[in-house]
Amino acid sequence: MLIACWSVKGGSGTTVVSVSLALVLARSHPGGVLVADLAGDVPAALGVADPRDPGLTAWLAAGPSVPADALARLELDAGAGVSLLPRGTGPLSGGERVEVLAGLLAGDPRPVVADCGVLDADAPALAVAGAATQSLLITRACYLGLRRAATAPVRPSGVVLVSEAGRALGRDDVETVVGAPVRAEVAVDPAVARAVDAGMLASRLPRALDRALRPVVVARAA
Ligand SMILES: Nc1ncnc2c1ncn2[C@@H]1O[C@H](COP(=O)(O)OP(=O)(O)O)[C@@H](O)[C@H]1O
Ligand SMILES: [Mg+2]
Repeated sequence: MLIACWSVKGGSGTTVVSVSLALVLARSHPGGVLVADLAGDVPAALGVADPRDPGLTAWLAAGPSVPADALARLELDAGAGVSLLPRGTGPLSGGERVEVLAGLLAGDPRPVVADCGVLDADAPALAVAGAATQSLLITRACYLGLRRAATAPVRPSGVVLVSEAGRALGRDDVETVVGAPVRAEVAVDPAVARAVDAGMLASRLPRALDRALRPVVVARAA
């Protein structure tokens, strides 16, 4: 089971939602959960040291000659039942190798969450979103963001709405523009930002965020 999280604009909350989903899933999966970081901020959001290289960029660039277990050897234990496939430095290469990566992630026996970052028309991570069981757009109810979402290179299967007080647009508008259901609504909450800034998200996942994301986890079991 692969859950791909992506956005059309930086700063949407994609990394926070990705990491939080992995933490929620890890509680009910004693075999562990894998987070594939295609965007680069997951180590910081998990509060672990930035592993840099080698990461997914090196694995993709190495081509088909890499040993079969090379991907597993990149994994780092991030604690709390979460293993991390770090992005690494340099560009993510696209093409056939990223399709292979997407297939491996989708076929992993553990639940896998991929932080795909911002998806534009030529983002290699599009292949990962395309192979996902759930392809989740993370967005605020922001007119500029929703304009971009309407012309995104891929349709999500669901939306995680990061909701802020005082917005003119709401859940129904988001569903109409994006053409996919809102699977979870996560409030913008200073407690979340503080937990991220302190590297404490993994050890003290804010309760409201935990509760808000549970429907996504339940939806995949259905
Ligand atoms: N629900 C939330 N409440 C408050 N702040 C949030 C929330 N989600 C994310 N943030 C903050 O917003 C910023 C961007 O979040 P991030 O997950 O890095 O977005 P993206 O990965 O889409 O660029 C970070 O400072 C993060 O702490
Ligand atoms: Mg991010």
